[in-house]
Amino acid sequence: MLGLVTTLNDAAPVELRELPEPQPQRNEVLVAVHAFSLNRGELRSVRNNGVGWVPGQDVAGVVLKQAEDGNGPPAGARVVALTDEFGWAQRVAVASHRMAVLPDTVGFAQAATLPVAGLTALRTLRHGAPLLGKRVLITGAAGGVGTLAVQLAARSGARVTAVVGRTQRAVGLRDLGAREVVEGIEQAQGRFGLILESAGGASLAHAVKLVEPKGTVVVYGNSSAESTALAFADFRGAPNSRVQSFSYFYSEAEDRFAPDLALLVSLIADGSLRPQIGAERSWREFTPVAEQLRDRRVAGKAVFLVD
Ligand SMILES: NC(=O)c1ccc[n+]([C@@H]2O[C@H](COP(=O)([O-])OP(=O)(O)OC[C@H]3O[C@@H](n4cnc5c(N)ncnc54)[C@H](OP(=O)(O)O)[C@@H]3O)[C@@H](O)[C@H]2O)c1
Repeated sequence: MLGLVTTLNDAAPVELRELPEPQPQRNEVLVAVHAFSLNRGELRSVRNNGVGWVPGQDVAGVVLKQAEDGNGPPAGARVVALTDEFGWAQRVAVASHRMAVLPDTVGFAQAATLPVAGLTALRTLRHGAPLLGKRVLITGAAGGVGTLAVQLAARSGARVTAVVGRTQRAVGLRDLGAREVVEGIEQAQGRFGLILESAGGASLAHAVKLVEPKGTVVVYGNSSAESTALAFADFRGAPNSRVQSFSYFYSEAEDRFAPDLALLVSLIADGSLRPQIGAERSWREFTPVAEQLRDRRVAGKAVFLVD
C-alpha cells in the first residue's frame, strides 16, 4: 500500500512510498482510509520525529476487517477514528474503542476534521461547564480547533468572543455563533468565565487579565512558541481563577474516545456542527497545503483525500 513518509526535506517534508500492510492486533480494526486531516501539532511532529515515519492521527474511511476480539464496527461500516500515528496511508489499524460509526449523511472529509480538533474543542469547553449564559473567549478562533469550539460553545448557550489575528480571518465566525469577533486579544472587553488559549506568549499573559473571579483559562497550545511570565499580582482582579493545562489525549479516560467522537458525529448529522474545511485536496498535494496551514492561511481545517 501507499503512505506518506517523513523525509526531513523542507521542500517536501513527506513523500508517498510503498509500505508494508498494517498487521492489526486482536483489538484493532483494519480501516481503508478515505480522508485525513492535518493538525498544527503534526506539522511539528513531521519535523521532529525523524526520517521514515508515517504520521497521521485523524482518519475517516471504511472498515475492511472487524477486530479479531469481535469488538468495534463490522466490515463495511463507515467510520471516523483517532490513531496515534500511521494514519496518512491507504490502510491503518486502529483500536476499536477509538472510533465512531458515520451515518451516510456525514462525509469522510467532514468526519476527518473531528478526532484531534473536535475532541480538543469539546473537552476544553467542558472545563467551563455549565456554559449557558457564560462569556467564553476563544483565541485562534479561525483555526481547526477554534472553528469547532466557537460552534460547540455557542450551541451550549455561551456568549462567544472569537479572537483572530487579522480582519480576513474573521470571515464566517459570526455565522458559526460568535457574538463578537476581535482582532487581537487586547481588543476584548470585559471579563470571561472561560478562556480557551492556544497562542501563548503575550496572548496568554493578556488572557489571565481577562478571566473572571473563579473563572478558568484553559492553556492547550503555544502556536506562537513564545513563553509567558506570570505573577501572583496578575490574578488580582480575578481571585481564585485558575490556569488549567490541557491535553486532549489524557484529559479523559481511554474509553471516552468512542462516545465523544460519536457525539461530535451526531452534531454534524443534526446540522448543529459544521466543520469548516478551508482546504480539501488530494494527499498528493500535501506540501503546499501544509505550508498554508503553517502560515495561518487555512480557514478551519485542512483535509486530504486518499485518492
Ligand atoms: N493540548 C492539546 O491537546 C491540543 C490539541 C490540539 C491542538 N493543540 C494546539 O492548539 C493550537 C491550535 O491548533 P489548531 O489545530 O487549531 O491550529 P490551527 O488550525 O493552525 O489554528 C491556529 C490558530 O492560532 C492562531 N494563532 C495565533 N497566533 C499564532 C501564531 N503565532 N502562530 C500560529 N497561529 C497563531 C491563528 O489564528 P489567526 O491566523 O487568526 O491569528 C490560527 O488560526 C496549536 O498550537 C496546536 O498545537 C493542542
